[in-house]
Amino acid sequence: MQASLGPIGVFDSGFGGLTILKELRRALPDADYLYLGDNARAPYGTRSFRLVYEFTLQAVQKLFEQGCHLVILACNTASAKALRSIQQRDLPLIDPTRRVLGVIRPTVEAVGSRTHSGAVGLFATPGTVASGSYEIEIDKHSPGTRVYTHACPMWVPLVENLEADDPGADYFVKKDIDALFGKNPDIDTLILGCTHYPILLPKIRQYVPAGVEILSQGEIVAASLLDYLERHPEINERISRGGTATYLTTETADKFNHLASAFMGTAVEADTIRL
Ligand code: DGL
Repeated sequence: MQASLGPIGVFDSGFGGLTILKELRRALPDADYLYLGDNARAPYGTRSFRLVYEFTLQAVQKLFEQGCHLVILACNTASAKALRSIQQRDLPLIDPTRRVLGVIRPTVEAVGSRTHSGAVGLFATPGTVASGSYEIEIDKHSPGTRVYTHACPMWVPLVENLEADDPGADYFVKKDIDALFGKNPDIDTLILGCTHYPILLPKIRQYVPAGVEILSQGEIVAASLLDYLERHPEINERISRGGTATYLTTETADKFNHLASAFMGTAVEADTIRL
């Protein structure tokens, strides 16, 4: 019997996963994608483990219901707080043939080859920083690399409230960059460990010291997905190939469409759903 086909599900608490979706579409343009932003409940970064897990599981189940066989948690907070439980505890019960992947592991795998000073900086949500996930994973893959972390609780609200381009954002971006590089000026590689942060990239570039490499998590995750699909033909052959992207949000569609269209560079018309 022919297995059913479905889009690749891409999930984030809000707009941030668009920075991953954009690169996935560039790397694998013929696949269909179904994006889900839980904008009504963003930010996740200041929420408890239990809530991030519950919200993420609801989103994954919704994407499965919509026909996705593969879901990417395009959200570091959900990857840090919910991915392992979903993979190990929930998936075997829901449907062991489906897959859920995160963004932290591929990012960490790329870090070791990039830094020369051995000092790496991480900006992320309070939840991701508190989880210690990046330090634990970097220690496994590149022992000896020193990781300096700084939580930026204001950056996601700036993006979710469509303030990323406004002058008010400069204050918080500069303040947080100064705080991180104040911990060690030798940091030569910077991880934006929250998928919302690339939406602030023009401002981040303005204040980060010259010569620091800012890793592009979208590109890294896209390359890692291509590699994964090559190694897992049973998942690859269940992806529908119409080259489309469809969008779901838990907020009003108008608000979502505005920033999503600007960021994706094409008209986005989302449907509002409840989780
Ligand atoms: N974009 C998400 C991340 O990568 C979550 C941000 C948030 O909702 O706080 O961490």
